[in-house]
Amino acid sequence: MTALTLSTAAAPGLRADAIVIGVAKGAQGPVVAPGAEAVDKAYDGKLAGVLETLGASGAEGELTKLPAPAGFKAPLVVAVGLGAEPDKDEDAGYDAEALRKAAGVAARALTGSKKAAFALPVDGPGAIGAIGEGILLGAYSFDTYKGDAQDAKSAKGKNGKAPLAEAALLGGKPRDAAHKGAVARAIAVGEELNRARDLINMPPNDLDPAAFAGIAQAAAKEHGIKVQVLDEKALAKGGYGGILGVGGGSAATPRLVKLSYKHPKAAKHLAFVGKGITYDSGGISLKPAGHNETMKCDMSGAAAVFAAVVAAARLGLEVNVTGWLALAENMPSGSAVRPGDVLRMYSGKTVEVLNTDAEGRLVLADALWAASQENPDAIVDVATLTGAMMLALGSRTFGVMANDDAFRSAVYEAAEEVGEPAWPMPLPEHLRKGMESQVADIANMGERWGGGLVAGLFLREFVGEGIPWAHLDIAGPAFNEGGPFGYTPKGGTGSAVRTLVRLAELTAEGDLG
Ligand code: BES
Ligand code: MN
Ligand code: ZN
Repeated sequence: MTALTLSTAAAPGLRADAIVIGVAKGAQGPVVAPGAEAVDKAYDGKLAGVLETLGASGAEGELTKLPAPAGFKAPLVVAVGLGAEPDKDEDAGYDAEALRKAAGVAARALTGSKKAAFALPVDGPGAIGAIGEGILLGAYSFDTYKGDAQDAKSAKGKNGKAPLAEAALLGGKPRDAAHKGAVARAIAVGEELNRARDLINMPPNDLDPAAFAGIAQAAAKEHGIKVQVLDEKALAKGGYGGILGVGGGSAATPRLVKLSYKHPKAAKHLAFVGKGITYDSGGISLKPAGHNETMKCDMSGAAAVFAAVVAAARLGLEVNVTGWLALAENMPSGSAVRPGDVLRMYSGKTVEVLNTDAEGRLVLADALWAASQENPDAIVDVATLTGAMMLALGSRTFGVMANDDAFRSAVYEAAEEVGEPAWPMPLPEHLRKGMESQVADIANMGERWGGGLVAGLFLREFVGEGIPWAHLDIAGPAFNEGGPFGYTPKGGTGSAVRTLVRLAELTAEGDLG
């Protein structure tokens, strides 16, 4: 992972492979953003014109490379677009998400480099944190299985170039507690989010429920988090019919992992629940070819929950956070759950399985009920739950549903604050009727229209009375099938990690209910 430091060095004397500067879209063409004064000066104050000649406009995502001016130790200047220049009259600074994206674009372009200095506009710890996150997230690459790398533990593959090794962040104050704290937070969140991406990208033949549980156990131990793993025997003993039913078709048996991070001064308790289907073939209701190639990503919710709990522990947040990972592999076989089967869930309710491909809600139902038994102050679940949510919101935005309007707004606002596109979705009561079953308390399928909301209504039935609950359907943003953009790579994205961490922080600060 990229090493991140604050530096007071002046750009000209810096020994680095490149200096990264910002360029914004001004009213009359590109403008050089604050932080790059020394570079601009060395270009006789004509850098904006040089950039314009090279075709730069300052648009977000844009990247322009130019030779460093004479006298600079670094050979290269990388100018990244920041979008519209903030209003000077309003004394507004650069938007955190614009900085995060720009830093990410630059870090990605500097793959293979040893060291880069980032001279982007810094007006306080918020900007430092955003740039730091953007660098760590943008520099990410997954080459464990490339070239000479033999297994998940070995060094980066030799086929791919190594990610940017070192980033010096200019413009901050290395001795200022808030600035140092912002860097530490960016490192904890960035590293754990990248770990979630690694898990999502890992092929399902290597990451089955037991392997995931083992990785969670090791990390928990390292960070002082209590961990309990229920294997298939313990799940049977406990009556976890949903998780067992879904996992029953696979030779790789299911697990329920409970991670408990506790702070001695915590006043509140949050529970995070993640869907962890390590591979979703659809089961007996088998997915057709073309719909299963990316289904290793169906444990993205569990990966996000895992990452968020570890990040909360690393940050020492004054809140108790319990993470529940509902891990199973959904496969067809002679022991698989059939359409028509009735499962007795952990809550005692019975569910008629009409479609074995609607498996996420079954494992989540058991985990939500388990989480509810501790009566937390709030529950948030994260799941790649429905293709319908992708149809509704596209591939970059997750849907937020809840049993409480104020809590839904709080979660949505937290997502917006950290730069994760999200949108509130309703839980229309009339859709419950479609899930009525002839033989059981509820069916795992309802009417086709509004499939993402039907799934949300199903989950709601397994949340304990009176507990505020929100459901994030990340089916769209969890896995990027297109090209990389901003700080988002191809493949696993780590969607929802930053929102969960922010919710834990807000709860610790007493600002969330
Ligand atoms: N894991 C899928 C949802 C999904 C689809 C995630 C595409 C990411 C990308 C989920 O288990 C599923 O198969 N859902 C079904 C539900 C249906 C059978 C009610 C769906 O959305 O089609
Ligand atoms: Mn499915
Ligand atoms: Zn699924």
